[in-house]
Amino acid sequence: MNIVLLGPPGAGKGTLAALLKKELDVPHISTGDIFRSNIKNGTELGKKVQGILASGSLVPDEVTIEMVRARLGEDDTASGYILDGFPRTIRQAEALDEMDEIDAVINFVLDDEEVVKRLSGRRLAPSTGRIYHIITNPPKKEGFDDETGEPLIQRDDDKPEAIRHRLDVYREETAPLIGYYRGKGRIIDIDAAPAPEEVLKAVLAALKA
Ligand code: AP5
Repeated sequence: MNIVLLGPPGAGKGTLAALLKKELDVPHISTGDIFRSNIKNGTELGKKVQGILASGSLVPDEVTIEMVRARLGEDDTASGYILDGFPRTIRQAEALDEMDEIDAVINFVLDDEEVVKRLSGRRLAPSTGRIYHIITNPPKKEGFDDETGEPLIQRDDDKPEAIRHRLDVYREETAPLIGYYRGKGRIIDIDAAPAPEEVLKAVLAALKA
């Protein structure tokens, strides 16, 4: 099954994807994670996109589309995938239509106030991308990853100014995709406010239906 996760920044797409991939046994493909891994490894792509990610703007469509085309061509996508963070513009959605058939688009619904709370409290394990929240999902030892023990970090784009910009970008560039996919009968609206396990149950039930 080919699934797209759509929704505002911080709605819980990455958190849900980590749970859903275990249920469906398909890869989780996050364009944000791929960009961050390139930045961490100092690749040419990483150098090109570092400032863009820190500000909360979007990487140009042509760069992102080619990166996703290459990733979807890998063998592990044969029985499906969870696309998290792509498409984010109408042009990307049209390019994806040419690459493959999408079975379901899960649209996370969450208000701005909750988005800001989630993003400002988010912390990450840099080597694995494991996601925490200082209040709702804290590590066992404050500031350190449960499994590797490495110090947790805050993403550059989780600072207040970048969060506001990301919300504006979402409304202008990405929210129109809800109408795009609704027109194709592919949208599943999911209330993203409950705890992650509840969100997972709702998504699994909707996919089954
Ligand atoms: P990306 O990494 O995709 O960021 P995003 O879409 O803004 O989403 P986030 O990762 O911030 O949030 P999320 O919804 O995954 O929430 P999470 O599960 O972490 O993109 C980053 C950047 O890369 C973009 O700004 C852009 O520059 C570039 N980029 C990426 N894709 C691109 C594309 N297609 N085109 C162009 N540029 C692109 O959860 C957030 C917090 O909430 C965590 O602390 C978590 O613990 C907590 N939480 C999660 N779920 C719950 C819950 N149910 N209850 C309580 N707390 C919860």
